[in-house]
Amino acid sequence: MSILLPLYIYPWAGAWDPLYWVAANNPTLNFSVIVNPCSGPCINSTPESPYLAEMPKLKNYPNIRTLGYVATNYTNKPIDTIIQEIHTYNNWTQILNDSRVAVDGIFFDETPGPYDWRAHDYLTLATKEVKGSAGLGQRIVVHNPGAIPYIPWNYLDLADITVIFEETFANYIDAPKFNALKTLHTDANTTKDAFALMLHTVPNIPDELLDWTVKQMKGMAGWSFLSSVGVPGEYWHSFSSIFTPFITKYAAAKAN
Ligand SMILES: *[C@@H]1O[C@H](CO)[C@@H](O)[C@H](O)[C@H]1NC(C)=O
Ligand SMILES: *[C@@H]1O[C@H](CO)[C@@H](O)[C@H](O)[C@H]1NC(C)=O
Ligand SMILES: *[C@@H]1O[C@H](CO)[C@@H](O)[C@H](O)[C@H]1NC(C)=O
Ligand SMILES: *[C@@H]1O[C@H](CO)[C@@H](O)[C@H](O)[C@H]1NC(C)=O
Ligand SMILES: *[C@@H]1O[C@H](CO)[C@@H](O)[C@H](O)[C@H]1NC(C)=O
Repeated sequence: MSILLPLYIYPWAGAWDPLYWVAANNPTLNFSVIVNPCSGPCINSTPESPYLAEMPKLKNYPNIRTLGYVATNYTNKPIDTIIQEIHTYNNWTQILNDSRVAVDGIFFDETPGPYDWRAHDYLTLATKEVKGSAGLGQRIVVHNPGAIPYIPWNYLDLADITVIFEETFANYIDAPKFNALKTLHTDANTTKDAFALMLHTVPNIPDELLDWTVKQMKGMAGWSFLSSVGVPGEYWHSFSSIFTPFITKYAAAKAN
């Protein structure tokens, strides 16, 4: 039961401090943090120096592991480019000459929702590449279709974790969707740990409603995150006002 955090926040000095604070103060909570210096690992260049300064500090926290960001553009990006990006993360410790920048797997963004055998083949190659890469630590594969997968035709077999929801809070509490999310691990015959939820545009809700939300999220998925930001494209680009209350409640809550 843990946090999947898209850390798409530029690491100006101090910018990642809210994360360091919650990680240090919630040592029983695990954080999988997605690092993303160039909408990917930076091909034919290296991450800007604030990244080189800040990324190693994540390793000061035993409950933080990192995942490298790779966008597939719904499998429209050439697979060779995907493989090259995976190789780059795999080689990061050599390329950047720092053992502390090693990632533990890849977060594939913009993976498709609807099933297509060609997309399945494409994502199979990407998964094989991660699983065969010794430089990728735990070799975790995460998919982000951001939508409830269709049962039985989907890509769940290719990922350790699939983001089954990346939408607004209002859509989350919409009854048909909410109920589908609640039964999905049973319907898919898998464990909640295979799923992640990312809610954004969370309004200014009372404390009790945030408690309730956290419990519901824990009942549906092993991995969660939320943001109060409601501006498209900006949801994950800052630590929103709800960040620390959410993490603190998540660490304390029992699953519903
Ligand atoms: C955190 O990760 C450790 C090591 O993998 C594991 O033993 C522990 O159960 C995890 N804690 C939670 C709350 O998932
Ligand atoms: C994603 O793929 C579509 C379709 O091939 C293309 O039009 C678009 O430019 C691509 N987007 C990016 C960011 O490469
Ligand atoms: C990764 O390292 C291997 C072995 O040193 C090298 O052959 C390969 O070209 C490197 N690939 C990338 C994308 O850095
Ligand atoms: C790599 O890092 C080590 C220790 O930080 C340093 O001594 C060494 O000079 C660096 N090598 C290169 C090629 O930058
Ligand atoms: C559900 O998964 C378990 C363990 O992975 C397997 O043994 C069982 O046959 C599956 N049931 C169905 C209905 O697919």
